[in-house]
Amino acid sequence: MRNIFEAPFIKEIADTTANMYRLGWNERNGGNISMILDEQEIENYLDINRVIREIPLTVAFPNLAGKYFVVTGTGKYFKNIKDNPSLNIGIMRVSEDGSKMNLLWGYDDGGKFTSEITMHLGAHEKRLGVDENHRVVMHAHPTNLISMTHVHEIDDVKFTKTLWGTCTECIVIFPDGVAILPWMVSSSDNLGLVSSEKFKDFRILVWALHGMTVTGTSLDEAFGLMETVEKAADIYMHIVNCKVKSSITDEMLRQVCNDFHLETKKGWL
Ligand code: 13P
Ligand code: ZN
Repeated sequence: MRNIFEAPFIKEIADTTANMYRLGWNERNGGNISMILDEQEIENYLDINRVIREIPLTVAFPNLAGKYFVVTGTGKYFKNIKDNPSLNIGIMRVSEDGSKMNLLWGYDDGGKFTSEITMHLGAHEKRLGVDENHRVVMHAHPTNLISMTHVHEIDDVKFTKTLWGTCTECIVIFPDGVAILPWMVSSSDNLGLVSSEKFKDFRILVWALHGMTVTGTSLDEAFGLMETVEKAADIYMHIVNCKVKSSITDEMLRQVCNDFHLETKKGWL
């Protein structure tokens, strides 16, 4: 067996979470990440038949049975993952009936997966339905994005178009737009299930007065979406109280879509 602490997927999660912490997106235990792993990817590092313990889910996901995930632990700090991955993250397989996670490695202090697990597994299920290469769900609390939800209308089209209007590349990076949900209690199955529905049509979901969740085929891709939306929100918060003299119109957005061959949601432009 190879040393799991040197596995590329552990290093990549450690580096990504350290970077997110450094950017101020993940204070204390704020935020969580889950990523699908291939069996072949982990067999070199773990005995996949040795289950350390079973952790029940509050919502079952039979469609994900047998899938492997690495997931950040509830209450754990992103800033600590790099120095102590096996305490702060876990590797699990979804049980045959989808009602439990079989822990194969990690959560050394008896901990468990993030309290947002229903949203994560629901998002994985829905994104896999539209993209077989989907792998990552990433949740964080970026400052400008949260600030923006205090002062902006909570509406998918209006919120997206404000973000697209802040700088030209936004529509290129997320032509499929941003979904936004009004405030709801964190870590609840209700929030998880309502959110999952949004991931049928979107890769980016904003929770008003809370934060943002993005999905992607890799940690890099998910991270790129998050930093682009947060940058757009940063620009918006800089200009919202200024006398604006120049802005990106729908016609300009249409020109970008034509030149870059982008498809946006029907009727949004
Ligand atoms: P966890 O510590 O359970 O992952 O929760 C953090 C969070 O961001 C809740 O929305
Ligand atoms: Zn959160």
